[in-house]
Amino acid sequence: MSVRLTIFRIVTNLARALEICAEAVMRPEDLIRLNHRFYAQMVWNQDDHDVTRGLHDWEQQLIGSLATRGRALACGCGTGREVIGLARLGFQVMGVDIVETVVERARENARKAGMEADFEVQDITTLSLSKGPFDLVTLLGYPYSLIPTRRKRIEMLSRIRSVLTPNGRCLINFYTRQCTKRQQWVHRLRKLVAFVTFGNRECQVGDIIHQGAFFTHFFQDPKEIEEEARAAEFQIERLDFHHEQGGHALLTHAS
Ligand SMILES: C[S@@+](CC[C@H](N)C(=O)[O-])C[C@H]1O[C@@H](n2cnc3c(N)ncnc32)[C@H](O)[C@@H]1O
Repeated sequence: MSVRLTIFRIVTNLARALEICAEAVMRPEDLIRLNHRFYAQMVWNQDDHDVTRGLHDWEQQLIGSLATRGRALACGCGTGREVIGLARLGFQVMGVDIVETVVERARENARKAGMEADFEVQDITTLSLSKGPFDLVTLLGYPYSLIPTRRKRIEMLSRIRSVLTPNGRCLINFYTRQCTKRQQWVHRLRKLVAFVTFGNRECQVGDIIHQGAFFTHFFQDPKEIEEEARAAEFQIERLDFHHEQGGHALLTHAS
């Protein structure tokens, strides 16, 4: 039994390592399309009961404590949860999401909740808005972790910075998980696959495609977030980073 168990473990570990390596053939644009497809399918199964509850407690506390009010932009707004929550706090809100049907649902949910808000279909990595500037930009529910590559996340943050008022703030949350030594070795193999297949040569430790369905980046340590924020000319007003439990950061223009 123990021999069979050992063989089973070796084979399943090998299969997982192969799967992780295969992920590297997907370029960043392919990963964005993969996420688009996932959320476009998800919206049909989603129960909107939670949406009308608005902000989670930690979001409510943090945003509620800011003196800032005015215009808010919710990036990757989903079916409207934080748009409704921000509107309740007195913000004039615009929500953007990459999936058209998700945006339609958000519009309907905001109307049902009695909140006025604008919506647009936009890929937040190529954000281009006629409206603005905004006093607050939010990426809640982890869209920051859904963006592949450090380069794309920095470009996105720079675009966001350009639509913020001088005292404006950007609030992001993200997944965290420290990779094991073995995962780091598999990552080296993945880099090799990316190189020979002209795939995602910018893939990083912490990149994962969950069950072939959607891409997520798990941040390894607070330094990773700090460096991306700094590269986009933001400074960090507040950073909460909990290994395995995710984190959030409040960003302001670098002075
Ligand atoms: C987990 S949901 C979060 C929804 C909402 N912010 C919340 O907290 O309830 C992530 C959302 O990000 C959107 N998204 C993913 N990649 C995106 C991109 N590149 N541009 C815009 N939206 C994106 C998805 O379509 C999805 O609706």
